[in-house]
Formats: sequence, structure tokens, C-alpha cells
Amino acid sequence: MNVLLLGSGGREHALAWKMAQSEKLESFFIAPGNAGTSDYGENVNLSATDFPSIKKFVLENDVHMVVVGPEEPLVKGIHDFFLKDAELKTIPVIGPDTKGAQLEGSKDFSKQFMIRYGIPTAKYQTFTKETIADAFSFLETLSPPYVLKADGLAAGKGVVIPNTLEEAKKELEEMLGGRFGASSAKVVIEEFLKGIELSVFVLSDGKSYKILPEAKDYKRIGEGDTGLNTGGMGAVSPVPFADAAFMKKVEERIIIPTVEGLKKEKIVYKGFIFIGLIKVGNDPFVIEYNCRMGDPETEVVMPRLKSDLLDLFEGVATQTLDQKKIEFDPRTAATVMLVSGGYPGDYEKGRTITGLDSVKDSIAFHAGTTEKGEQVVTNGGRVIAVTSYGKTMEEALSKSFSNAEKINYEGKYYRKDIGADLTKPETGNQKP
Ligand code: AMP
Ligand code: GLY
Repeated sequence: MNVLLLGSGGREHALAWKMAQSEKLESFFIAPGNAGTSDYGENVNLSATDFPSIKKFVLENDVHMVVVGPEEPLVKGIHDFFLKDAELKTIPVIGPDTKGAQLEGSKDFSKQFMIRYGIPTAKYQTFTKETIADAFSFLETLSPPYVLKADGLAAGKGVVIPNTLEEAKKELEEMLGGRFGASSAKVVIEEFLKGIELSVFVLSDGKSYKILPEAKDYKRIGEGDTGLNTGGMGAVSPVPFADAAFMKKVEERIIIPTVEGLKKEKIVYKGFIFIGLIKVGNDPFVIEYNCRMGDPETEVVMPRLKSDLLDLFEGVATQTLDQKKIEFDPRTAATVMLVSGGYPGDYEKGRTITGLDSVKDSIAFHAGTTEKGEQVVTNGGRVIAVTSYGKTMEEALSKSFSNAEKINYEGKYYRKDIGADLTKPETGNQKP
């Protein structure tokens, strides 16, 4: 099978690494890819949202399947574009159509969907500029902190959690005033849920589904979960508190109603569903859906998947996922993200990366890198995700931390406390 993978981050490197292990893979293209993905296939200088150029490339290179890494092409309709085109419609796209992608593309849609199908989530209301007075009244009924979410995609920056009512009102005015452009023309305000977060991944063919290994992501830049939100600073899988009893609740209360709800809405969802949830007491609540895999969660989920990913994707394409077996590696996988100095604020690109060859017993998944002549240089805020296996989480993390020391570039920073909250029994189930 000739495959085109869209995207350029650590998620795509991990997906490429896994797909390249498949005997079914023939030609492999990654657009635009990074310095890591070029080890497995040909990087192609195409934007993941330039659909006409993607069409031309797919036809010229006899591509048999397109796998979409990031949300943007999905929300912008790449799957629909293929379905509507006479020459492309038989080529499967792994990733939902625009209707399915609304689970991520519109917070308002996803909240309404959860309410319609009785899926546990935080209490909420949606407001526009015209209803700002009602929004202020709603805020007054909530207790701090306040959760404000831009309705549309905002590159991971659309959620603001102010601590005081005054700040919340100011933030709301700014968001409705266009802080995130059209994405924040509608703002969802919701109740703050206190608990510990978990990322759950489901692969769906529109008829049946498979649950992938769960993971925990570390979102804040600073140790002890402090400072600004980032795309994710590290991840571990499995997650000790997500035991069988808890995952049964997740499947019964969230996954099954989600998959059934999509069917009722006549959405043939072919791709990954990423459920960001929070464990409050012993119960799961959905914080958000994403229509793609997580990053850096993919860098621990793919290493734990023993089954052939392309074979599973074929199952998605032909709606025969129920006939596929899915197996996992019981070991822990942990990843530590090396980022650029200044991230998630301003940072420099183009710093030479050294030491990648000395990495031993870990996999260095490239997140933001590019090739410059013979050198690999930084090309993003998140640079390299260092993933390792271990019989225990501690063993996996210690390998990742020691390899993180061997990779160098000016301004390198990483969190040294990934997984630490999960090792302390007194804080294992709740954030302090
Ligand atoms: P989202 O983009 O929806 O994942 O939100 C980003 C982050 O904001 C989440 O990972 C949570 O840490 C936090 N968050 C979102 N919604 C809530 C909520 N209702 N209660 C508490 N924290 C939340
Ligand atoms: N790591 C969270 C995300 O991919 O959205």
C-alpha cells in the first residue's frame, strides 16, 4: 500500500515509525514531515491544508490511503474533499469528515452532543457578543476558577481559566471582541472540574471501535504543573489510576454513547477520537473531544501498540475493524518533551541539535525539527520527544531523562517531574 501521512509533529513521527513496521507498506510519503519522518519515507513539501496540491500529489504518486495527523485539515474538510471528488473518492482518508470533526472544531457542538447523549461533562452555557449580559449573570452563578473556551479552533490557546470574577468578565469581553478571531465569536463558559486528567483514544470505523492504550499528558510548562499551558510536555502510558473498573466506566458512560451518538447523527466517523477527560472522585467527565491523536500521547501510545497499524487502518477504511485483533505491550512507555527556550512564548528556531546519535534505549521522536544541510536544527517550540519503555514507569522515565541529557541545543528545556504525581499514593488520584 502507498500511503501519504499529513502533518509534521512528534505525533506524525510516532505514527510514521509505527506504520513503517507494517509489511503492507510500500511507498510512504509524509507531508510536510520533519527531520525524523524522513527516516521512514519521503518528506514532501506540501501543506496539509492545500487540498488541490494534495490531490495532484495523490494521483501522480498512486497513493492508496491518506492518514491525517492534525485537526486542521479535518476541520477544513479534507475527508469531504476526497469523497466529493470523482478521482479521489475511492481513496480512503483516515480521519473524520467535517461533521465528525466538529467534535473538536466546535466546543458548542461537542457540548450539545454530550448533553444529547447523556455523556458526563461540566455544566455549561454558550454566549455571543449579543448575549454578554446573560454571560455575566451566568458567571455570577459559578464559583471560581472560571473556564472560558473559544468555540472554534485556536491552536490550543482557546481555553482560559481566570481565578476571579472580575478577570473572567474581562477575558470574556476580549474573547467575544475577537481575541481569537472568528473562533471566539461564540464562547463556552463551563463549571470548573477538579480532578486528575486522562487521555483516552478510540479508533472508529463508523460501525465499531477499538480502544487504544490510555495516557496521561503534562500540559503546563513548569514543574508541579505550573505556568502557561503548552501542547504537552510529556506523557506516560499506562496510567495507574485508570484501572479496569475506571476504564469500564469510561467505556460504558462515554465511549459507547459517543460512538452510538455519532451513528444516530448519521456521522460515519472513520478515524481517531481523542477523549480528554477528568476523574472527579471516581467518575470520568469529558473535558473535550479531539478528532485526532494527541501529541505527545501518540509518542507513548504507538510504542505500546503491538498490532499492525496499517492493518487497523484498512479495517477503518473497509468498516471491518470488528474483525481485527488489537494487542498492546504491557510495559510502560514514557516520553519527555524537549522544548525551545521561551516556549510556549516566543522562541528561536534553527538551533543545531547534537547528540541524537548517542541516544540509547530510547526513541527520539522528532516534534519540531528540520534538516539544514547535514545538520538537524530546531524548527518549533516542541523539539524532540524522548520515549522509553520500562517494566515500571520509573524505569521508563529514568531512561528518557538520561537520554534527554545527551541531546543538546541552545535553550533546551524539559520538565523533570513527568509522572511524579502518579508515583505518590497521596496525590495519585487527585491534583492537590
Ligand atoms: P481543552 O482545550 O478543552 O482541553 O482545555 C485545556 C485545559 O483546560 C484542559 O486540559 C484542562 O486542564 C483545562 N480545562 C478545560 N475544561 C476544564 C474544566 N471544565 N474544568 C477544569 N479544567 C478544565
Ligand atoms: N496533548 C494534548 C493534545 O494533543 O491536544
